[in-house]
Amino acid sequence: MDLPQAPVAPGGALPDAEKSLLRFTTSGSVDDGKSTLIGRLLYETNCIFEDQYAAVARTSEKRGSERVDLALLLDGLAAEREQGITIDVAYRYFQTARRKFIIADTPGHEQYTRNMVTGASTADLAIILIDARHGVLTQSRRHGFLISLLQIPHLVVAVNKMDLVDWRQDAYDAIVREYQEFSQKLDIHDITFIPLSALDGDNVTRRSDRMPWYQGQTLLHTLENVHVAADRNFVDFRFPVQTVLRPHLDFRGFAGTVASGTIRPGEEVVALPSGRASHVKSIETFDGQLAEAFAGQAVALTLEDEIDLSRGDMLVRRANLPQVATAFDATLCWMDQEPLNRRTHYVLKHTTNKVKAFVGDVRYRIDVNTLHREPAESFALNEIGRVTIRTARPVFFDPYKANRATGSFILVDPVTNRTAAAGMIRGTAREVGDVARSGQAVSHRSQNVQWEGGLIAQADWEKRNGHKGAVLWCTGYSGSGKSTVAKALVRELFAAGCQVMMLDGDNVRHGLCGDLGFSDRDRTENIRRVAETAKLFYEQGNIVVCTFISPFRADREFARAIMPAGAFHEVYVKCDLEVCRRRDPKGLYRKAEAGEIAEFTGVSSPYEAPEAPELVLETDLHAVDDLVARLRAHLREHGVTD
Ligand code: ADX
Repeated sequence: MDLPQAPVAPGGALPDAEKSLLRFTTSGSVDDGKSTLIGRLLYETNCIFEDQYAAVARTSEKRGSERVDLALLLDGLAAEREQGITIDVAYRYFQTARRKFIIADTPGHEQYTRNMVTGASTADLAIILIDARHGVLTQSRRHGFLISLLQIPHLVVAVNKMDLVDWRQDAYDAIVREYQEFSQKLDIHDITFIPLSALDGDNVTRRSDRMPWYQGQTLLHTLENVHVAADRNFVDFRFPVQTVLRPHLDFRGFAGTVASGTIRPGEEVVALPSGRASHVKSIETFDGQLAEAFAGQAVALTLEDEIDLSRGDMLVRRANLPQVATAFDATLCWMDQEPLNRRTHYVLKHTTNKVKAFVGDVRYRIDVNTLHREPAESFALNEIGRVTIRTARPVFFDPYKANRATGSFILVDPVTNRTAAAGMIRGTAREVGDVARSGQAVSHRSQNVQWEGGLIAQADWEKRNGHKGAVLWCTGYSGSGKSTVAKALVRELFAAGCQVMMLDGDNVRHGLCGDLGFSDRDRTENIRRVAETAKLFYEQGNIVVCTFISPFRADREFARAIMPAGAFHEVYVKCDLEVCRRRDPKGLYRKAEAGEIAEFTGVSSPYEAPEAPELVLETDLHAVDDLVARLRAHLREHGVTD
């Protein structure tokens, strides 16, 4: 039996504390020798225990193998998988005299997108294995595309199993040529190709004398020497608050990991979303105070002033703000068996923040083999594409390209608690919000515009009007009686001297929204426009009564999300669909059933009833006057009117 040769430590040894860290991922197709390669790296860098090695040697022998099968070192993991323990990514550690390494090993082949994305978010480098006999496979292209998408700065293409092609240079060269041609279409700046054989360790840690035509370095040498410090973002200071520490009354620290940039005591910071400013008093760690903290360090910051911060808030510099928005464009990798549902909300986890989110618009799907864009309405497992995300509260982010830490997020399915997708924020579609100056949460915004504030305070409008502002959002089928009840209410409020405004579906579609039809997408845009309009009227003290079918939960949630807490009242105008059909005040149901109107709500387009409306008005059971009385009582109970 051949024993692997003694480990090698190239270059001079460094003290542990001075060693830099390299995180890398490995990916390949079935049987291309990934486990053997990792096993060999661990073995040859002396990072496995004698007894582990002895066990692997015994098993290899029992199986009649002539060599010690180093892939067996990774079998512990396979056993855990068989027991039903889900492991997306297994982390393995090893070190040499020069560097420490963390391998994010992604077991399983079917869920490669999920695994790659999970393991790769912090990787400095990725290794793609290609079997020299099989050449560049679809899988190798997909992985390259993901690496480009995830902006992993360095790629090593390891052409493995060179022993099985008789160490032939032409076999290797053909693979290099083909992969280079493909990768030119991608956003990868540094690719190294290495011919190797993990089985015997040729060009893994030792130079092989069986491929004299190869002049490059071994895999380990490449891993030890690739320059990574320049890849990290030390410019944009971002400190997402993880926990507030308050061990005793005189100490309050904000713990977290510096996502990017650097910070020193004395420097000014601004808290998001409040916009409050203070100065850093000290940087605390378990080992005492620091004079400076860098990207990647876990610290606690204390501030000169008492400002209220909680988990999910972010400390930044005034002159270098992230973008702030409730809508952004992103590339999404779908990871769940359950396809994307645009009608339901997800929990968006971003830095230390969690917020309700919807996928507003699917722009296109990318065919990862051809890199072409194709139209799509949803994504299934492993699909990738561009979307617009809407969040219930503003998030503070940077485009993924500028900052992987603040530019990435995941979507969690709130029902199953599974990670449904990972996303990379593209950003700039809607422009930067300037909360640090205005304290104004921004949703959609054109470029180069500034909010004109300082007209009349909302409180002053309300004082003069003698009531508060509110948005009453009536949703329900066409013919359910929304407009009838709303008009009666508005007349009463007008008579009582209230400042009141009505926005009605049919009316806004005569002008403001006259360019929109009734597709899902147009309805979403309709609701977005009228919700923003309602908000403007609300801010000037009005009671805004809105009557829109607004059949999609996600759109109503959006309308709610852009209003301050408590201002939005969802009123479900409930009426049996059969009753609406019989009433058919505008003759539209008849036309829809005859096929003369497409996408008619309740006939050929869905209606999603509210789950937790503030008020339900059953128009098929109660008289209009009674329902108006209910609405007026509701306004009083909520302190809108006396
Ligand atoms: S919404 O779905 O976008 O909220 P909105 O409330 O503005 O719809 O407009 C609904 C009104 O448009 C209905 O009351 C009806 O008079 C008219 N209408 C015309 N076509 C349709 C359709 N396909 N579906 C629903 N309503 C329609």
